[in-house]
Amino acid sequence: MCGIVGYLGRETAQAPLIDGLRRLEYRGYDSAGIAFHEGSKFSMARETGRVNNLAESVQKKCSPASLGIAHTRWATHGAVTVSNTHPHLSYDDKFVLVHNGVIENFGALKRFLSDKGIDFASETDSEVLCNLIAFHYSELPEGENRFVDAVRQALPQCRGAYGIAVLCLDYPDTMIGARRGSPLVVGLGDEANFIASDASAFVGRAKEAVFLNDGELAVLQANDFRITTLEGQEATAVTHPVDEVSEEVELGDFDSYMEKEIYEQPMALQNTLLGRFGDDGTTSKLGGLEGHEDELRNLDRIIFVACGTARHACMVGEYLIERLARVPVEVEHASEFRYRNSPKAGKSLVIAVSQSGETLDTLEAVREAKTKGLLTLGITNVVGSSLARETDGGVYQRVGPEIGVASTKAFSSQACLCAMLGLALGRMRDLSPMDGQSIVEALKGLPDLVSEVLQKGEQIRELAIKYSKAEHLLFLGRQSLYPVALEGALKLKEISYAHAEGYPAAELKHGPIALINPDCPSVFIVEGNELSAKTIANMQEVKARKGPVLAIAPDGIEIPEEAADDVFRLPDAHEVVRPILANLPLQLFAYHFARLRGLDVDKPRNLAKSVTVE
Ligand code: AGP
Ligand code: GLU
Repeated sequence: MCGIVGYLGRETAQAPLIDGLRRLEYRGYDSAGIAFHEGSKFSMARETGRVNNLAESVQKKCSPASLGIAHTRWATHGAVTVSNTHPHLSYDDKFVLVHNGVIENFGALKRFLSDKGIDFASETDSEVLCNLIAFHYSELPEGENRFVDAVRQALPQCRGAYGIAVLCLDYPDTMIGARRGSPLVVGLGDEANFIASDASAFVGRAKEAVFLNDGELAVLQANDFRITTLEGQEATAVTHPVDEVSEEVELGDFDSYMEKEIYEQPMALQNTLLGRFGDDGTTSKLGGLEGHEDELRNLDRIIFVACGTARHACMVGEYLIERLARVPVEVEHASEFRYRNSPKAGKSLVIAVSQSGETLDTLEAVREAKTKGLLTLGITNVVGSSLARETDGGVYQRVGPEIGVASTKAFSSQACLCAMLGLALGRMRDLSPMDGQSIVEALKGLPDLVSEVLQKGEQIRELAIKYSKAEHLLFLGRQSLYPVALEGALKLKEISYAHAEGYPAAELKHGPIALINPDCPSVFIVEGNELSAKTIANMQEVKARKGPVLAIAPDGIEIPEEAADDVFRLPDAHEVVRPILANLPLQLFAYHFARLRGLDVDKPRNLAKSVTVE
């Protein structure tokens, strides 16, 4: 994934680049580096670890310059070492490059260049691209277009994905950016221009943003920019005000973004719901679906494509939409969908769900669906993201930037939007106005119920203290609470590194029950309906084998004393909002569990917020 930022303008590039990197750190934080054009040479600083380490070494190693590029890495090729950290310097010291993505044929290109006597200083695929540009440059005659021509010759030789920013020593006032597969956006300021992986990198410094499309290349000077295709044809530059595409994010009194984002869910959900119900109070009204009413009314099938937490939200959607609208729903791992021979049965709608709107697996699934002529809709949080731009229609989550790597408020809003979609589709089919009305009321009441649950955060902290020694945990639930079990397990493992698995509660006896012992707690998420008796029986099966049991259960459901060691109570609520409420204690459980282990919940090891590689 990685974050890229480049600056050229009147100021010294140091502050805009370091600030930009800090805002992009969510994209990767294995190592960070910076390069400045100093006229006769590039000065560079590169450090493993966080941007803060880099900021210190830039002071020592670099002198002020007004043109520079910087990068925060999430390693795909080569270990987390200084030599593999970007920017990469070409073999002849003439080019520096930062790259986001994967050059799939880097091995063949490296052999081609090695045969020409070119040496490499890193194990990365990115350095190969830098040297390839330098090699083409060396073969071209001198002239105004030599730099851009070298880039244009090198990029078509690369298979895979890239977003790059590159500088050439012979061009002290020019920066080139290009993309295929990985996001890149140009920022236009006052006698200063930027290139970055996303617009948050230049908020407050640039006024307008131009999103590059795949296959486009931008040539920037401080007062000018030009966007063309790789082949050199002029491309249209559509500008967006930067305020609309990104917001600044402050931590406030919270000790982590994850905690902040958990506690801002009532407000986040208010925003998701705002103005999205019909005047008669029986249905939802999602503006991004307008113009597609006939297609939605006549659907035969919905296929959700998403990854990770977003996929769990889709699974909640699967249960709710099938129940409310009685449309067959499938949920696919985006990475699997794109390579499957999925039969094109009837009128299918593909809905891609992605907080960032930049997850490459999800984008590729959308592209595959479009190739097959399917209608595509997107649910995303990021305005102007690739998903928002590439789908036929869609809905914004409106929950504000999510910075913590562990997705929390985004899940709640995605599950909420799936319920709203189920309601809208249901009302186009069989769902009665009365049922519609009770769902509208349940959804409108959701933010208050979320506040009520979050107020019991201290109780969850105490439970986390009790269970935090466990290295193996099971999460179990039925129906729409099964994806909540999966999500509870994912949240715990990604930030606390404890091993956790989610299963349908009844599936326990088909294998996982073998894991049960006094050191392996089970977290059961109990339904608020007749199915609860079955789940309570599963809890008793665990207790009979001396497994500790923590139950998350609605107020109205009685839990026999012998069935659970601890019970966390949820307010009684309509089935459409139960999964969202039941997930809240699991978010807090994972958060406290990890904090008790002294871990950085916002930047868990090996992960990145936005995964823009396959
Ligand atoms: C969530 O906690 C994870 N970090 C991860 O599974 C995430 O949900 C997934 O990578 C999808 O991201 P997206 O919503 O931005 O597409
Ligand atoms: N492939 C490059 C590296 O490993 C960039 C990785 C990425 O964009 O995630 O350094």
